[in-house]
Amino acid sequence: MHTQDKWAIKAQKEGYRSRAVYKLEEILRSSNYDFNKINSVVDIGAAPGGWSHYIKSKFPAIDVYAIDILPIDNIVGVNFFQTDIRSIDELEIFPLKMGTFDLVISDLAPNITGIRDVDEENIYELNVITLQAAKKLLKKSPYSKFIIKTFQNTNLKKFRQDVSQYFNKVLTHKPAASKSKSGEIYLSGEDLI
Ligand SMILES: C[S@@+](CC[C@H](N)C(=O)[O-])C[C@H]1O[C@@H](n2cnc3c(N)ncnc32)[C@H](O)[C@@H]1O
Repeated sequence: MHTQDKWAIKAQKEGYRSRAVYKLEEILRSSNYDFNKINSVVDIGAAPGGWSHYIKSKFPAIDVYAIDILPIDNIVGVNFFQTDIRSIDELEIFPLKMGTFDLVISDLAPNITGIRDVDEENIYELNVITLQAAKKLLKKSPYSKFIIKTFQNTNLKKFRQDVSQYFNKVLTHKPAASKSKSGEIYLSGEDLI
């Protein structure tokens, strides 16, 4: 059986919306992340809702806020906002209090044009916007954490340095459920500066 089928089948069996939940699960498990110590999560680039659904179903007491440019099917208890991350500062309906969130996760992936330079710049621009949003949203606490998908490309080193300016501890992750041929990787940041 091909690896990608294994994760997709597992997600289907376990009632999750996407195989992406196993990427998040592995990243958080690797740092012994304790959801019992947190109250709130912002999920950026959330559709179809796998990550938000996973957290809300396992930890119903946690407030989950999700953002995506695309709509998602309702997830009971999750506050969803259909908007572009570029507009997060303009969102008047977004009842988020800056500097109060425990966990900001982003699996955001822009549409690929196929033109390498354009795609790499789009990814970098969105990564930086997401990082800046996370910096504003997260509270200063030992349990605050940021996880972001990015890609192995010519901007990766630069972006990792950007994350290091905001967080004292930065780690790189390539979870087993992430397709090996895909250039995606994840960075996590802890200990907000
Ligand atoms: C890989 S999917 C996320 C999967 C999700 N983590 C899950 O578990 O279901 C990436 C998402 O990023 C969203 N996205 C891309 N560009 C965006 C933007 N500028 N603002 C908000 N969301 C965006 C896409 O619409 C897509 O739904």
